[in-house]
Amino acid sequence: MSHDLGYSFRPARPADALALQRHCFPTQSVEEVASYLNWCLRQAESGRLVRLVAEANGEAIANAQLTLHGEIAEIGSLVVAENYRGCGIGTALITTLLEAARMHGAQAVEIGVQPDNEDACALYTRLGFVPHRQVETRYAPGGRVLYLRQTITTPLSLP
Ligand SMILES: CC(C)(COP(=O)(O)OP(=O)(O)OC[C@H]1O[C@@H](n2cnc3c(N)ncnc32)[C@H](O)[C@@H]1OP(=O)(O)O)[C@@H](O)C(=O)NCCC(=O)NCCS
Repeated sequence: MSHDLGYSFRPARPADALALQRHCFPTQSVEEVASYLNWCLRQAESGRLVRLVAEANGEAIANAQLTLHGEIAEIGSLVVAENYRGCGIGTALITTLLEAARMHGAQAVEIGVQPDNEDACALYTRLGFVPHRQVETRYAPGGRVLYLRQTITTPLSLP
């Protein structure tokens, strides 16, 4: 899928690790980014995950994934490179993954965010997600994750 702003979406590949580390995960090492990316790609091969990157000028500059847990799917790892933010890439990634969730038969999609990430919360609310629950975890900075949820509505089939 190609956009007027000069980026296109495609499935992630192992070779994206270097660009993703540089543009999206600069606090992690290339090895850490590659290791998690490769795990995701193995999940994708078995149909449990969809991982997309946005490519611009031949490089991955944004990414997000959809993990399929039966009826509930989860969007995660959503990051857009700093100099590409605010031009609709995050919105387009989310709407593309919502459509993928619908096609895989999910009935709801969740997205987790740090409760103090107000801009991201505002974006998710604008896209139809509503706060669902807050969980405590030692894996997230701040120790808390707010999960927002969106019910997938299936278009009515006409007789
Ligand atoms: C949150 C994020 C993915 C949004 O991507 P994006 O491509 O900038 O999003 P869009 O251009 O589609 O939408 C921009 C909206 O997101 C909000 N936003 C959130 N963080 C933003 C940022 N750092 N810069 C610009 N806009 C941001 C804005 O309020 C804007 O809302 P508006 O359209 O009403 O003005 C991106 O800002 C990002 O990678 N942030 C850092 C990582 C992060 O917080 N990820 C979410 C973890 S849950």
